[in-house]
Amino acid sequence: MARICIVGGSGYVGLGYAAALADLGNDVIGLDVAADRVAALNRGEPLIYEPGLEELLSRNLAAGRLSFTTDYTAAVPGAEFVFLCVGTPSLSNGDADMRQVRGAAVAIGKHLQPGARTYVVNKSTMPIGSAELVTQLVAEHAPAGADFAVVANPEFLREGSAVHDIFRPDRIVLGANDRAAAEAVAALYAPLGAPTLITDPRSAEMIKYASNAFLATKISFINEVAHVCERLGADVTVVAEGMGLDPRIGPRFLHAGLGFGGSCFPKDVGALTRMADDAGLHPGLLRAVLEINADVRGRFVGRLEKLLDGLDGKTLAIWGLAFKEDTDDLRESPALDIIEMARERGATLRAHDPAAMANAARRFPQVTMCASPYEAAIGADAVVVVTPWREFRQVDLGRVKAAMRGDLLLDGRNLYDPPAVFAAGLRYEGMGRGSLPRAEDQVSPAVAVTTFVATTRVGAD
Ligand SMILES: NC(=O)c1ccc[n+]([C@@H]2O[C@H](COP(=O)([O-])OP(=O)(O)OC[C@H]3O[C@@H](n4cnc5c(N)ncnc54)[C@H](O)[C@@H]3O)[C@@H](O)[C@H]2O)c1
Repeated sequence: MARICIVGGSGYVGLGYAAALADLGNDVIGLDVAADRVAALNRGEPLIYEPGLEELLSRNLAAGRLSFTTDYTAAVPGAEFVFLCVGTPSLSNGDADMRQVRGAAVAIGKHLQPGARTYVVNKSTMPIGSAELVTQLVAEHAPAGADFAVVANPEFLREGSAVHDIFRPDRIVLGANDRAAAEAVAALYAPLGAPTLITDPRSAEMIKYASNAFLATKISFINEVAHVCERLGADVTVVAEGMGLDPRIGPRFLHAGLGFGGSCFPKDVGALTRMADDAGLHPGLLRAVLEINADVRGRFVGRLEKLLDGLDGKTLAIWGLAFKEDTDDLRESPALDIIEMARERGATLRAHDPAAMANAARRFPQVTMCASPYEAAIGADAVVVVTPWREFRQVDLGRVKAAMRGDLLLDGRNLYDPPAVFAAGLRYEGMGRGSLPRAEDQVSPAVAVTTFVATTRVGAD
């Protein structure tokens, strides 16, 4: 059992780790500058939506293995491991904003206990060379006699399945110049039984950026293919299925749609691009990945505008606000851009999201937040599917059609089998499904069934 301090302990990553490491039997204190969130956490309220998190939090608070504070003096001295889980958002030029990391590293240094050995674990996604930066900042502010080592330990969890991913990681990556320090951190993770890679700090930091850039590239790749499919009359869902059967390619991250959002892919691809630029390189592929992702959103609204013959005075039901399913996180969500663009063009918006409406209502007071997808559809000229929540896959489309003023379903995530949509009397438009019958042909469900009988779905990532 170890004493662990999690800096940034009320964030998505920090809170998950604080609760999970406590569940493994460690004595954990979550430290965060956000006093309101710290108070809520001590009452057992996570304030973020993440399946399984609330229960994990309550169980470990009750067991006395977990607590939260805003006070570095109460949290850092005596901790054997100090995890840095603060945010590293993008600056406007794409660089990672390292202010939270710098502030936390200075504060950690000031509060190290002389005579004790502390492992500072860099879990935030930080630019290449950050282990050296954190080492320098901690050393500059540490009291005489403090002994510490920094270990780069990038995180690969996915929001929406964070608790699952923390307990069942694909791999643990540890980068340190001091092998004993990496092994001390590896021992903390040993109960998880995951493959562990110990390397130098820069390679560890790069593994995170390269992994996210690769996944984002797969998404932009299939979205580019979807665009071509749309023009040339192929159906990208079948194309992706056929590609994915090749084990060298695999089916995952080949779902054409509204592209990637969230707090990681856009900022990490942007930061890697900047790092390559700064190194005098020409990261053309990374730039294209970002450009394709941005284009999808604008093109989507343009298409909606065309299908509805203008958006001025039209009512849209926006299904999904979070950047992906099973989270309330709106950061870089396609919904944000789509809402902004649709409002600029004069549309009235009604929205439903199973988890993100409270966050979205603060940002968009003009959007009517609705208790269900059916309520959002009332009086709508079009239903616009933005986030692939399971709840949307199971709706009664006939009931949706009955609530609407118009009949268009624009499926930004290819959630539906077109015959089922046609059978409900709706017009269907998906992403890159160019072989669909034109609107005037979409009257006969029997024809549609024949056309799409061969189409089966690949699972969601
Ligand atoms: N969210 C994810 O899915 C995910 C996955 C993998 C990696 N990451 C990386 O993990 C890091 C954290 O991401 P997140 O989504 O949890 O961010 P977040 O913004 O949800 O959490 C960061 C927390 O740090 C706190 N904080 C800021 N400065 C502080 C300081 N000086 N002292 C104490 N607390 C401070 C903030 O109040 C906030 O609660 C980022 O680098 C991110 O790229 C995130």
